[in-house]
Amino acid sequence: MRFFTVAFLGLAASALANPVPGPHTDLDKSCHGCIPQKDANEIIDAYKRLIGAFNVEDANKYLADDWVDVSQSINTFIGKPENAPTFNKTSFIVSQSNPQTPAALLEIADDSTIVTCNKIVIVWKGTFGKGVPVRGISIIEVVKQGGQWQMQHWDVEFNSLNWLENMGGSYCVLGRPVGNPAACPHLPTKPGHGVRNCLSQSRSMPGGGEGPERFAGGSFAPRMFILC
Ligand SMILES: *[C@@H]1O[C@H](CO)[C@@H](O)[C@H](O)[C@H]1NC(C)=O
Repeated sequence: MRFFTVAFLGLAASALANPVPGPHTDLDKSCHGCIPQKDANEIIDAYKRLIGAFNVEDANKYLADDWVDVSQSINTFIGKPENAPTFNKTSFIVSQSNPQTPAALLEIADDSTIVTCNKIVIVWKGTFGKGVPVRGISIIEVVKQGGQWQMQHWDVEFNSLNWLENMGGSYCVLGRPVGNPAACPHLPTKPGHGVRNCLSQSRSMPGGGEGPERFAGGSFAPRMFILC
């Protein structure tokens, strides 16, 4: 029976030379194994809580066991190879359970949200610490397991300089200090020396090799020099 139904639908579809695109209802999406809008909304709410109001129950319910987060923004902070997985489920739970981890309040720009079959793209504004808005974009890949939609993969990039400032850090960019007026090194007036000075400063910066927990706790070197 199923074969005939599928064959019939295929015939009907090809008979329509210019099918009028109709609105994709949740029913359509579910039929194709896609995440319905209401479940996507639930996932987005869970995402906000995982970042801003963490609890282990959410992590266990909404993160698949093989979930990973890849974020070059964070990897740069913690000295991980730039495209390495930043967190797995275990290390994320440890990091988010650390009371020193910033709990960023996320506001989602609803009109920028995209929900495809198995991906949810959100544009967010995160605020914590000094209150500087941090704009970020997250791509959340979802999978349905045991009747529950879960997150399986995050791609997360954000304005890490604003994040750093919120954590009480400072930096110097193009001669402009941010976070601490002393962040920009005093440059010698002799041509050429300034650049060398900046390079040697930036090399001593990242606090490399430390785990995500260190990032989350905001305990890396609070001063950094980027460009002069
Ligand atoms: C999770 O990440 C931590 C820290 O990077 C690592 O030590 C651990 O082996 C990873 N666990 C799994 C299951 O991959």
